[in-house]
Amino acid sequence: MSKNAIQDWDLVLDAPNQFFDGYKTVDGQNLMLAFSNDRIAYFGPRYSLEDFPQEQIIDCRGKIVTPGLIDCHTHTIFGGNRADEFSLRAAGASYEELLAQGGGIHNTVECTRSASFDELFHDAGKRLATMARFGVTTVEIKTGYGLDLKNELKMLRVLESLSTKQPLTCIGTCLAAHVLPKEYAKNRSGYLDLIVNEIMPRFAESEVVSFVDVFVENNAFDLNDARRLFERAKALKLEVKMHAEQLSRLGSIPLAVEYDAASVDHLEYITSEDISLLEASNTVAVLLPSCNLYLKQSKRAPARQLLEARCSVALSTDCNPGSSMVENVLVAMSLGMMTLGMTSEEVWKSVTSQAAKALRLTDRGRLSAGLRADVVIFDCPTT
Ligand code: NIG
Ligand code: FE
Repeated sequence: MSKNAIQDWDLVLDAPNQFFDGYKTVDGQNLMLAFSNDRIAYFGPRYSLEDFPQEQIIDCRGKIVTPGLIDCHTHTIFGGNRADEFSLRAAGASYEELLAQGGGIHNTVECTRSASFDELFHDAGKRLATMARFGVTTVEIKTGYGLDLKNELKMLRVLESLSTKQPLTCIGTCLAAHVLPKEYAKNRSGYLDLIVNEIMPRFAESEVVSFVDVFVENNAFDLNDARRLFERAKALKLEVKMHAEQLSRLGSIPLAVEYDAASVDHLEYITSEDISLLEASNTVAVLLPSCNLYLKQSKRAPARQLLEARCSVALSTDCNPGSSMVENVLVAMSLGMMTLGMTSEEVWKSVTSQAAKALRLTDRGRLSAGLRADVVIFDCPTT
């Protein structure tokens, strides 16, 4: 390392107890991480920094340094809350029953439609601040509680404002295909026309939107609907994702892989054939273990089989007012270990390099020269 290169550094994180580089933990006591111009400039053995401005060195002894955490599946923007339904579900009502009776997602759609832009912006901003406190620097946010042009665009405007007015990177996803809105209950094809002809083209114009997602489930959308949405997404140069195999077996993974989905999310009902397809694909399996808790669902996504088959596995909060009232990605990680049998290293990987892959982001999620200067210092000694 030449002296000149060191002089270009803006900041050095020196000698943490441990680094997590996006794939594995490494003893950090003889290593340092340096930044230059908002990028990682160097990650490797420590150098003498005698001539380096001491105020630009952060002594990380006793701490751990990881890539900024990525929460790759959230519904952070919503109006109201579902506290009443939480009590009903705690007393035995099922998520599907409440949805079929016009509650659940429909309940939040009503509250989101009647909320103002400012209310949605303020509440979602508070949630993002909470996420940041736990180490998240990038968050994916879905729409899907507007379900008409005006209110989906209202959610999109909130997303765009959040992305410029607070420090986390927000990656937007169009989830107009969340459920069939009540006014289209007898006109499924009419709602799909609205999505592909009017809603999706407007989303495709937005700089914050990368993905189109669809909830494939009984009481939501079927595989024919998903194919139509994916065709349109590809024509508009948007990538696709799918809420898949969460509450019942619908055989949706082959379609998602056919369209090179960035991720398939939930996956409680996938089979070994699905796992083989995922292993041979570029599609990340995003697991959301807090939903099992909030839905009192005993069936688990087969995390160990996925990992042993060398599939890419990410974890996320699925932050939303119904199936996962969780803003803290560290909770998803703990549940990954306690309920899905993942190891500590696997869960750190699942919210860094693998979550970046689920969002098709190549500039973060790892500690590697050239990537964004986007890291977190945890004031704790080991992962
Ligand atoms: O990821 N499964 C569908 N969508 C969300 C739940 C949204 C809600 O209940 O408001 C999920 O679980
Ligand atoms: Fe979700």
